[in-house]
Amino acid sequence: MRILLTGATGITGKHILNSLIKTKNEIITFSRNSVKQNIKNLEHRTGDLYSLNDIDLLLKDIDVVYHIPPNMHKDEVKLSSNLLRYICKYKIKHFVYHSVLHPNIKNLPHHWNKMIVEDLIIKSKINYTIIQPSSYMQNIFNDKNNITNKNTHLLPFSLNSKLCIVDLNDISEVASLVIGNKKHFFSKYELAGPEMLSGNDKAKILSKVLGKKIIARRESINELEEKLLIMNVNIDEIKTRLKMFEYYSTYGLPGNSNILKSLLQRKPKSFEQFIFDNKNKFQ
Ligand SMILES: NC(=O)c1ccc[n+]([C@@H]2O[C@H](COP(=O)([O-])OP(=O)(O)OC[C@H]3O[C@@H](n4cnc5c(N)ncnc54)[C@H](OP(=O)(O)O)[C@@H]3O)[C@@H](O)[C@H]2O)c1
Repeated sequence: MRILLTGATGITGKHILNSLIKTKNEIITFSRNSVKQNIKNLEHRTGDLYSLNDIDLLLKDIDVVYHIPPNMHKDEVKLSSNLLRYICKYKIKHFVYHSVLHPNIKNLPHHWNKMIVEDLIIKSKINYTIIQPSSYMQNIFNDKNNITNKNTHLLPFSLNSKLCIVDLNDISEVASLVIGNKKHFFSKYELAGPEMLSGNDKAKILSKVLGKKIIARRESINELEEKLLIMNVNIDEIKTRLKMFEYYSTYGLPGNSNILKSLLQRKPKSFEQFIFDNKNKFQ
């Protein structure tokens, strides 16, 4: 089977690619920058989801597609619709869409845009599967320096808000299980981790596993905004991030791991095990 993977140079894409290349399939990655790996069953095609011409050329010899839309992109609906148009034209056998947990949250643009795309997919009459992952455990690596050097876990929302964070490697395993498999056609899977954890809960687990006291500290929105501006993050993405943290402060991100457990046929990874497995990254 020839699998096209979009977004393979991103955080999600790198994990999903690692899982897909272990299968016997041929993997074709697509993004503006190339994927640097010298692997037998891997081919990279450079292109832009804005370009209908690039997408038309891309899909001619593809069997199935795993689509990871760019994170918090203002034109997420346009880019995914462009792809979907040619998925229909070339009668692609299976389209897997990497969405998000609770896409129905209207005041978070990166969730609501996925709701619109999901609606287009369902109406398109193609064989689809929609994956709805929760926030990744891997996001903690963004705070690696504070945890390692300042014994502090910094979060820009309430330290008591609970999120059902999930290991991206578990999500990637599901990606290779479902792609091209008829049993999963016309399904939507909410994929959450096994526990609801707050910043304070995570700090306790970090302390236990790393063997030193880690304290959770709330970062002010102004502090975060300044940091993102220095990092040259574009203004639309900053606004979306700030809305997301405001939402998390009020509502957290609830979810249940039953679906993930039944797909994996094992317990999804706990945060404690995840930190234990990645202990060397915090030294
Ligand atoms: N982070 C989380 O906790 C989480 C949880 C659930 C769901 N998600 C969802 O997962 C998705 C991916 O997130 P991520 O953080 O992995 O994204 P990311 O690291 O920002 O990667 C984005 C990918 O899209 C590609 N891309 C961007 N613009 C493109 C264009 N015009 N044409 C072709 N390719 C383009 C990028 O490659 P080039 O720059 O090389 O083109 C890159 O490979 C997002 O939609 C996000 O909402 C994330």
